[in-house]
This record gives sequence, C-alpha cells and structure tokens, in this order.
Amino acid sequence: MVLPLTVVGLALAVGAVEFGWNVPTSRPAVVVLSLAILFLTVGICARLLVAVHAGEKLFQIGDRPWRKAPRAGRRASSGPGRIPSRPDQPVRLDHPSRPGHSTSPDHPIRPTGRPDPERSAESADIEVVRAAAREFLELFHGESPRAERLGPRIAAVMREIELTGTYWHTAEELAFGARVAWRNNARCIGRLYWRSLQVRDLRTVSGAGDVAGSCFDHLQVAHNGGKIRPMISVFAPETPARPAPRIWNEQLVRYAGYEQPDGRVLGDPRYRTFTSELVQRGWQPPDVPGAFDVLPLVVETVEEGPQMFQLPRQAVHEVPLEHPELAWFAELGLRWHAVPVISNNRLVIGGVSYPAAPFNGWYMGTEIGARNLGDSDRYALVPEIAEQMGLDTSDEATLWRDRALVELNRAVLHSFTANGVSITDHHTESRRFLIHLEREERAGRRCPADWTWIVPPLSGSQTPVFHRYYTAETQLPNYLTDPDATHRSLQGGPPAFP
Ligand code: ARG
Repeated sequence: MVLPLTVVGLALAVGAVEFGWNVPTSRPAVVVLSLAILFLTVGICARLLVAVHAGEKLFQIGDRPWRKAPRAGRRASSGPGRIPSRPDQPVRLDHPSRPGHSTSPDHPIRPTGRPDPERSAESADIEVVRAAAREFLELFHGESPRAERLGPRIAAVMREIELTGTYWHTAEELAFGARVAWRNNARCIGRLYWRSLQVRDLRTVSGAGDVAGSCFDHLQVAHNGGKIRPMISVFAPETPARPAPRIWNEQLVRYAGYEQPDGRVLGDPRYRTFTSELVQRGWQPPDVPGAFDVLPLVVETVEEGPQMFQLPRQAVHEVPLEHPELAWFAELGLRWHAVPVISNNRLVIGGVSYPAAPFNGWYMGTEIGARNLGDSDRYALVPEIAEQMGLDTSDEATLWRDRALVELNRAVLHSFTANGVSITDHHTESRRFLIHLEREERAGRRCPADWTWIVPPLSGSQTPVFHRYYTAETQLPNYLTDPDATHRSLQGGPPAFP
C-alpha cells in the first residue's frame, strides 16, 4: 500500500505546484511535501482501519443474535416458581409447541480437525474479544493503581479466551467496568456520581426464578428507605457455552397500559402492547384494573423460556403525588415509583457481554413530570391539570401547557421530597453535569454526551447544558440498547431463544 501512496503523494505535490497553489517550488521542497502527504495518508488509512474495526466490535458484541446456543439436556425441573396462581411466582410463558431441547453437550470450543463453515467467523469473533479484552485491561490498569500487574493478567485472559472463547472478570474489573460504562453513557446527565455505583456481583445467578428474586432484592436495597443508592446487579454473562438470561421489561417497575373499548388507554400507553401480550401469555391483571398497576417481571433463560413473576409488594416503593399549594392535585390519584431500574440494557465490558444487568440511579423530576406524566403518548395529564387550574385553554398563546407542566413538575419534586425519597431537579443536575465534564477533562478523558438526551425537557434554555455542544462518540465499556431487547420490552416478544 505504501508504494502507490508515495506515487499519489508525489503526484499531489507536483499537481499542487502545477495548479499554482502557494507551495514551495524547489525540488527538495517537493520531496518534503510529498513525504508529508504520504505520512498523512498512511495515518488516515490506519485510523480508518481502527475505526472500522471498532465499529465491527461494537456491532458483533452487542447485536448478534444467539447463533448456536446449546440447549441444556432437559427442561429445567419444575422449581418452586411453577405454580401460576400464587403471587410472586412465575407463570410459564412459552407456547406448548415450543421445540424441545437438544441433548448435545456444551462444547465451548469446537473439536479441531472437522470441517466447519462457522469456524472462520468464530475465530474472527475471538479476535474481537481478545482486542476488546486487552483494551479494557489496559484502561483498568491505567486507572487502578492497586491492580495486579498488567502483563500477567493479559496473558492469563488471553489463555482463557483461547480455551473458552471468553473470560471471567475479577470482581474489581467488573466493578470498574460497570462504573466506567456509566461514565461513558452519553445519554445520562447524572454521571457526576459514577464512582459511587454499587455493584452486586451476581454472575453465578442464572435461573429465571433466582434472577427475578435478586431483582426484587435490588429494588429493596437500592431504595434504602428513600435514600436511593445507585446500584447495578450483574447476572450471568453471555458465553459460547450458554447464553445469558434476558429480562424483557424495560425497567423492573413499569405500569400496565390497558386498551379500553373506546380506544383510549388506562395506565401507561407506552406498555399497551407489552401488557396485552402478557395477558395473552397468562398474566392476570388486578380485578379492578387501574392506572398504576405494576407489570410482572419477565425473565427468559435458554432452558426455561420466558417466565413471569409478580413483584412482591415490599419491592415496589411508590410516591403518591400532591402539590405544595393546589389542594385538588392529590385528588387526581397520581403516583410514581421511586426507583428507576433500567433492565433491558446490555452491559458490555472488555469483550464480555452482560444482557441482564439492571441498574438504577435516582430520578430527575422532569423524567416523571415532563415526560412520563406529560407526554401526549404517555399519561398526557397536561390538559386535565390546566383545566383544574382554570387556565384558558382556548388559545395556545396563553401558554397554558407550559404553566400546567410547571405545576405538574413542582408536584413531583415536592412529593418525592416530602416522602423522603431522593430526587433532583433539572437546574441542579445540569450544573452538576458541567462539573462532571470539567473533572473528566482535567483527568484527560473525553466525555461523550448526546445533546438531545442531556438537555432537560422543561426550560432547556434556562439550564447551562443547553448552551454548548458535545462530542457523542461511543466509548466502551457502556450500556447498549439492542434493537431486539428494545422490541421485547415494548412488544412483549418475540423470545430471545425461540
Ligand atoms: N426516564 C426513565 C423513566 O422515567 C428513567 C431513566 C433513568 N433515569 C435515572 N434517573 N436514572 O422512568
């Protein structure tokens, strides 16, 4: 590649002279110039190659459907959670005609010597895992003064990848990776606290019932009596021997949306399809359906298929909403859950993928007040609140929407605080985010941020995060949203392991 580039470089230099650009015209100058162009071109090509490689890596790790998951030799025994009628217990979701499991043993590595069409793709995958592992271990060791020596750790990990196609993070690597994944997540305004993330290492937990139970514990521990702890529970990783469990729900606590005969939705319209799908699969809504019925948790494993678990009452902390001045507000019967635990993102660390790794911070008021309760395709409460406030809704120019939205948001902030549940407002959080950016810059790191996600949905221009640009490149480790996982969390299927 170097020779043609030299020729191109020389040609460009000569061409530049020919076209009368303002360049030195002596012979040595032409040589120097062509060399400069040559180096530049080589540099650009190298960068391009690296970029292509990185893109490939992201794609392959995150979004590849499970290719050849060996099934366990038998269906999981009917565990304690098989009785559909009991609360807090799973209901089997899979269709009776679901194909049975093959009995082939789990071979992480294919025996050599047999012709195998998948083999070259596989070794390319392994290369990607190796490169990602090396990059992550270097990052970890660069930022962790007390870590064991880098060289031996990389060698051990490479051997493990050679043998099994993947590797097991140390507890310290896992905790660091989960925290840096938060630090790298371009959509989150609350990243100032990334170091405080508590990491629950649950990588040996992989059965549907155990995953669900640990999720319910997570809700309790993270709620912490109202003083919410940022926390992640990391369940079994994806491995060549066994695919990881999947949590279907978008968050651990979400409200059902019931389509009414008149086409309107009772509850959260975002989950109308998810809700009806779960009903079809056997979930029984409360006798009198309401606007804030907590959906069951759906956990799918390759052995058990998707299973539903009703959340125990003590795991669901909610805040009834009232307004500091408007007495009628409490009569609306609004409420929201205290802890937002995102449960359909894939945590990706150094070539290892954790599809079941629910994590939470605490709420920023606008998430509930401006979006969940305000959006016209969610609870759409603005017109009703404006009406109650006695605003003139006949003319947009009275800004009745804006005025009602502000009061809805005041109610959210007021109610959480009055109930002793952690919450933050968008002005405070915007300032904190800029402090975070400054700190990251001082540490010599790039901090990706997505303007469209960072700027609050209420009074954006009143917050300092509005008035600047950000770079938004994807950095790993990170929390990634797979299209199929997003689909499952809104449409209630199809299963990851059909
Ligand atoms: N926006 C989502 C919701 O309203 C929650 C996303 C995560 N938010 C957070 N503060 N950690 O439920």
